[in-house]
Amino acid sequence: MIYLDNAATTLHKPPQVIEAVVEAMQTLGNAARGAHENSLQASRMIYDTRCALARLFGFSHPERVIFTANATESLNLALNGLFQPGDHVITTDLEHNSVLRPLYRLEDLGMISLDFVPADRMGNPDYSAFEDLIRPNTRAIVTTHASNLTGNLVDLARVSAIAKFHGLLLVVDASQTAGSIPISMEDLGIDLLCFTGHKGLMGPQGTGGLCVSPGVTLRPWKVGGSGVHSYSRTQPEDYPTCLEAGTLNGHGIAGLSAAVDFLLETGVEAIARREQELTLRFYRGVKDIPGVTVYGDFSQPQRAAIVALNLENEDSGQVADALMEDFGIAVRSGAHCAPRMHQALGTQNQGAVRFSFSLFTTEAEIDAAVAALAQLAEN
Ligand code: ALA
Repeated sequence: MIYLDNAATTLHKPPQVIEAVVEAMQTLGNAARGAHENSLQASRMIYDTRCALARLFGFSHPERVIFTANATESLNLALNGLFQPGDHVITTDLEHNSVLRPLYRLEDLGMISLDFVPADRMGNPDYSAFEDLIRPNTRAIVTTHASNLTGNLVDLARVSAIAKFHGLLLVVDASQTAGSIPISMEDLGIDLLCFTGHKGLMGPQGTGGLCVSPGVTLRPWKVGGSGVHSYSRTQPEDYPTCLEAGTLNGHGIAGLSAAVDFLLETGVEAIARREQELTLRFYRGVKDIPGVTVYGDFSQPQRAAIVALNLENEDSGQVADALMEDFGIAVRSGAHCAPRMHQALGTQNQGAVRFSFSLFTTEAEIDAAVAALAQLAEN
């Protein structure tokens, strides 16, 4: 089987990730819930993982790296915890439902007002609109770093300059870029960085987190056991405990820890270069196949390792089924939880067939996928 659905989750993990999870399941106690060796081991490992993630994301506050179950939980924590009644928020047409639905709900509750930076037919945001949409009560810009549908990157430096000039917070969804494209929170002026552990970071599912810059205050939406200040009626205010009620996924975080060590050793820039080569190899192979329409902007100097396309007017689900059944190739099809992006591309009815690559994808797999698509197009 050829696995080309890495934007949904990376299937091939470094072996040390699997070993770390197995070892953790045999040895870890509950972090911060005991003074015995197994509990201390969990606490140390989790703190070391915060430090490694802070290093990976160019962030000098490991105690403000919060663990969650996935990017959706991180975004819910960020968006539900940040806004006050009357705030105005700017986001983009590129967003995934993990950004859209929390914001729509806040809008429906009358808490915030919301405006969208439109995307063009190439899938890029109209950068001038960020500035045009700002109002006196605008509090934040919430944007993805890369579209999960097209792989186009958002120019965070450009958006951040606008946000900083107008005193706005910048919230970034790095689901499709964490571990695959270098990110420095401090260089880019990102106030809240939300990420998942199971995609480019190559950790287990059920891991993720967010980095909360100093000066940003989030209301916890989950309170409960913390292992400290047990007689207090309220959640402790110290980071990270204030945002991490309940037992953490220590077994998953142990795997994530091994994965982040692997990424730091390999270097995210080297991973980005490799994924870029694979993506362009696939793109060049498919773009001129008769009947193929590729979405997204391939003139970008850097992009996420994603190529979304359609074959004439074929339903994208049928193309994906044929790729799986006839060629053993796994891709994602249909709508990709990014409704406004599909509207901008005009693919809301057909969906799109999305091929996505990882560091462990081979040239032979790329070439086999190109050949399979050429054969389907011919048939
Ligand atoms: N958000 C994931 C994707 O784009 C699941 O496939």
